[in-house]
Amino acid sequence: MADPVTSTPNPGSAPTADPAGTTADGDLLLRVRGLKKHFPLKTQGLIRRMADPVKAVDGISFDLNAGETLGLVGESGCGKSTAGRTLLQLLEPTAGTITFEGRDITGVHGDDLRHLRSEMQMVFQDPYGSLNPRHTIGSIIGAPYMIAKTKMVKGDSIKGEVQSLMERVGLNPEHYNRYPHEFSGGQRQRIGIARAIALRPKLLVCDEPVSALDVSIQAQVVNLLEDLQAEYNMAYVFVAHDLSVVRHISDRVAVMYLGKIMELADRDVLYAAPMHPYTHALMSAVPVPDPRKETRRERILLIGDLPSPINPPSGCVFHTRCPKYREVLSENDKQRCVTEFPELELKAAGHFAACHFPEVRSDIAAAEGAGVVVEQQIATAIESVAVPDGTLGL
Ligand SMILES: Nc1ncnc2c1ncn2[C@@H]1O[C@H](COP(=O)(O)OP(=O)(O)OP(=O)(O)O)[C@@H](O)[C@H]1O
Ligand code: SF4
Ligand SMILES: [Mg+2]
Repeated sequence: MADPVTSTPNPGSAPTADPAGTTADGDLLLRVRGLKKHFPLKTQGLIRRMADPVKAVDGISFDLNAGETLGLVGESGCGKSTAGRTLLQLLEPTAGTITFEGRDITGVHGDDLRHLRSEMQMVFQDPYGSLNPRHTIGSIIGAPYMIAKTKMVKGDSIKGEVQSLMERVGLNPEHYNRYPHEFSGGQRQRIGIARAIALRPKLLVCDEPVSALDVSIQAQVVNLLEDLQAEYNMAYVFVAHDLSVVRHISDRVAVMYLGKIMELADRDVLYAAPMHPYTHALMSAVPVPDPRKETRRERILLIGDLPSPINPPSGCVFHTRCPKYREVLSENDKQRCVTEFPELELKAAGHFAACHFPEVRSDIAAAEGAGVVVEQQIATAIESVAVPDGTLGL
């Protein structure tokens, strides 16, 4: 069966029946298939029974290459953080598989999990809340060495290693014995990053790592993450609300809605030629620097609240808010949206969307200039693409 959602897109070439072939052998780091995280709920009252669960993450699939950055975007509550935590086994998956370096790591425990911690780490949004206020910076950054019982660094050399890490992330090594409250927000995020990279992980999940910081500090922290990635060849899953930050740092971007991936593509393709109606709305809200283009762009407003992940809409989960469904589609087509779940399918080279009626909208693109060539390639590819069996095995 053809395999979906590969890492390195091959812009320019026609979509292949087996897009997994576009991933260079040995480069694939993480493969996620049908990953679900449902939170069980109990009813209120005297006799408490199990109610329908919160479907926070509901069947996501993607690949990630070594050294690659996948941006994860979507409005609040769509499941980005839960997806990140489940990937790292901080939450137990409800279903699906996670393969890391070719090994199925879904639900690992004990020593295997401890070993995995040295390979996959997390950078949190709130740099203060994630640091123990009673521990010195030295012990916070040095903790992974103790927990992992690594032979890499022992005894006194932990201090030396921590200080060189501090220097590497832009902290003064002489502040080894200071406490978190003695640092600014940006410095605290650097401490969080130093702790995360202490054991040289191959994968970092960065959950809104700059959202809590001043704009001027955000750029410094993003630059630091980019430098560290180049130096240590780490792959990132980068969760953020700010689409400009995501565009800057990501190689590819996945757009989530109600626990599912709606669109996944190369960063430039997604920003220049978004295909899914939900992505159209997100992109239309990103300001572009050219004022003439800005005044011509349509601003697509989504009407209504995000539906409950306990009881998501039938068929396409986006149909209750989809502008195309509401304003453009015929009754017959609408019926399809309401009854038939759209799989995340290859629509053009390296470009996946979960929509029965995708449409390239470069008129609301958020990428300056890059649009034209990409748009032409995709428009041609959409017409010519022949996807065997309708779906690609998700
Ligand atoms: N422990 C939990 N128990 C029950 N429901 C939860 C739990 N954690 C998250 N949820 C629910 O799962 C859904 C996804 O939450 P999540 O925090 O992953 O979203 P998010 O995309 O990261 O949002 P934000 O952008 O606000 O951080 C939400 O409806 C949330 O209320
Ligand atoms: S499948 Fe239908 S409802 Fe869903 S995004 Fe596409 S057009 Fe909109
Ligand atoms: Mg979150």
